[in-house]
Amino acid sequence: MAIWVVVVWFAALTQLSSSSIITSPGFPSPAIKSVNHSKSKSKAKLYEEKFYTQILDHFNYNPPSYHTFQQRYLINHKHWGGAANNSPIFVYTGNEGDIEWFAQNTGFMFETAPLFNALLVFIEHRFYGKSIPFGGNKTLAYSNSSTLGWLSSTQALADYATLVLDLKHNLSATDSPVIVFGGSYGGMLAAWFRLKYPHVAIGALSSSAPILNFDNITSPFSFNDIITKDFRSESENCYKVIKRSWQEIDDTAAKPGGLEILRKAFRICKNYISAGYLEGWLGTAFTYTAMTDYPTPTNFLNPLPAYPVKQMCKAIDDPKTGNNTFEKLYGAANIYYNYSGDATCFDLADDSDPHGLGGWTWQACTEMILLTDGNTVDSMFPPSNYSYNDRLQFCKDRFNIEPRPTWAPTEFGARHIHRVLKRFGSNIIFFNGLRDPWSGGGVLKDISKTVVAIVAKKGAHHVDLRFSTNEDPKWLKEVRKREVHIISKWLSQYYHDLADSSNY
Ligand SMILES: *[C@@H]1O[C@H](CO)[C@@H](O)[C@H](O)[C@H]1NC(C)=O
Ligand SMILES: *[C@@H]1O[C@H](CO)[C@@H](O)[C@H](O)[C@H]1NC(C)=O
Ligand SMILES: *[C@@H]1O[C@H](CO)[C@@H](O)[C@H](O)[C@H]1NC(C)=O
Ligand SMILES: *[C@@H]1O[C@H](CO)[C@@H](O)[C@H](O)[C@H]1NC(C)=O
Ligand SMILES: *[C@@H]1O[C@H](CO)[C@@H](O)[C@H](O)[C@H]1NC(C)=O
Ligand SMILES: *[C@@H]1O[C@H](CO)[C@@H](O)[C@H](O)[C@H]1NC(C)=O
Ligand SMILES: *[C@@H]1O[C@H](CO)[C@@H](O)[C@H](O)[C@H]1NC(C)=O
Ligand SMILES: *[C@@H]1O[C@H](CO)[C@@H](O)[C@H](O)[C@H]1NC(C)=O
Repeated sequence: MAIWVVVVWFAALTQLSSSSIITSPGFPSPAIKSVNHSKSKSKAKLYEEKFYTQILDHFNYNPPSYHTFQQRYLINHKHWGGAANNSPIFVYTGNEGDIEWFAQNTGFMFETAPLFNALLVFIEHRFYGKSIPFGGNKTLAYSNSSTLGWLSSTQALADYATLVLDLKHNLSATDSPVIVFGGSYGGMLAAWFRLKYPHVAIGALSSSAPILNFDNITSPFSFNDIITKDFRSESENCYKVIKRSWQEIDDTAAKPGGLEILRKAFRICKNYISAGYLEGWLGTAFTYTAMTDYPTPTNFLNPLPAYPVKQMCKAIDDPKTGNNTFEKLYGAANIYYNYSGDATCFDLADDSDPHGLGGWTWQACTEMILLTDGNTVDSMFPPSNYSYNDRLQFCKDRFNIEPRPTWAPTEFGARHIHRVLKRFGSNIIFFNGLRDPWSGGGVLKDISKTVVAIVAKKGAHHVDLRFSTNEDPKWLKEVRKREVHIISKWLSQYYHDLADSSNY
């Protein structure tokens, strides 16, 4: 029986195979060499690229802490009403990857900028993209804990505060209100930024941010329960086929010539490895498809049709595949890995990382101990209990460090968040789509009049932030309308306070 350890990101899930190989929890690659990612860069003219000399360590006065690095940010002035009008500044708090990729998938900011005459700024997270400390040498910056130690969410938030204040100073826009935006880990950072730096940002739109996924506050079974529900709600057969497939893969792999049977059934390239890799590869497809179960065709992680979970189940339920589990699963995997039709064979060992997300492995071994790996007996994945020890062992082997699972909730708060923020926070929108496995760790209920939860039953991972399309369903249009309305309220209150000379 395969054991699954899923080191998850908002991206990265990885498999621990039956033979106990942990592959690097990197970003799941499309396994299609011929995909031309620069095609999607047609939106590159959306912004200008700038660099800011950032301090390496905001929290220590030892001389090495004074080292600096070049931090990238993207800026768009097109709609800005200018400093003289105190026009707003919308800031995206970058996630664990290349900031251009996040900017190009955050159409909401580009589409709302003209409504508010807003300046747009997308700041890259340290250690990702082109924002690499140690002279921009990624090999050196990622070499071991002696350099990676400066990769943390608290440092990143301090970077954002420092950069935003300096930018406002340069633009003589000290009274321009700042609103922060982010999705996924970037959404966690946006919410935390509002809580930690209320003097820098007047509000935060925190989309699909599992800030409660720490420290047993959210059940470790929740993540895979939601994926299971997504598939099971399409069809009971779809769920059953997936559920029984793991045993069938293991049984086949154990037979003489079994690996060759699997290799052929799934059109795996020659470098085929093991049942565990195949299971991880399929698990990745199911997990990311659930996360990006968007109502329109997209190309976020991989090119996908509208409602891809439905399409996968259609492939599984296809009567033409009769009783052949592998043929059914191949059809489903083809939706995630080969929707473009370009793949000639699938490379399970492909660990290419087109969006530069590799640094998450370090974050997942230090503070981001998000509990997601449990599978109940009803899960479509093999049953397993969440094991902190598996993570611990992985992190010791990989970095020779121990995670600090309680640090994030200590630093930012998470337990009893309703009680805490009711009397403390304001001006935060928590968006969650309930088809998104991360929604289990999200804030799903209003906390106060100004810390509000927007929940979309049919929504997936930060769907609200994506570029709008003509095919967007009504519920999605309503979500965005409501977000715009709330933001406009924050701004009018701010301008009201600014005009009132008794507020100083
Ligand atoms: C990828 O697409 C871009 C934009 O269409 C094009 O300029 C570039 O030559 C393509 N690259 C490859 C390797 O096909
Ligand atoms: C980057 O750092 C690595 C490891 O220290 C070193 O071997 C390499 O020469 C450096 N590269 C550059 C371009 O300096
Ligand atoms: C960590 O990396 C640095 C820079 O490459 C190197 O000088 C140091 O020896 C490494 N330390 C360990 C324990 O490997
Ligand atoms: C502000 O201006 C200074 C001086 O030109 C420059 O070095 C710095 O990078 C600017 N800050 C930002 C955030 O661009
Ligand atoms: C979470 O709960 C499980 C079972 O109730 C327990 O074994 C585990 O130690 C807890 N983990 C943490 C981080 O509290
Ligand atoms: C289909 O597979 C199931 C389970 O493996 C088996 O019980 C059943 O007899 C099969 N049906 C046909 C028509 O082969
Ligand atoms: C990818 O899809 C195309 C078009 O449907 C198909 O011809 C090709 O065989 C598929 N690739 C794999 C590896 O299955
Ligand atoms: C998970 O833990 C429960 C309670 O300790 C146990 O009954 C169950 O068998 C475990 N499940 C697995 C898959 O190990």
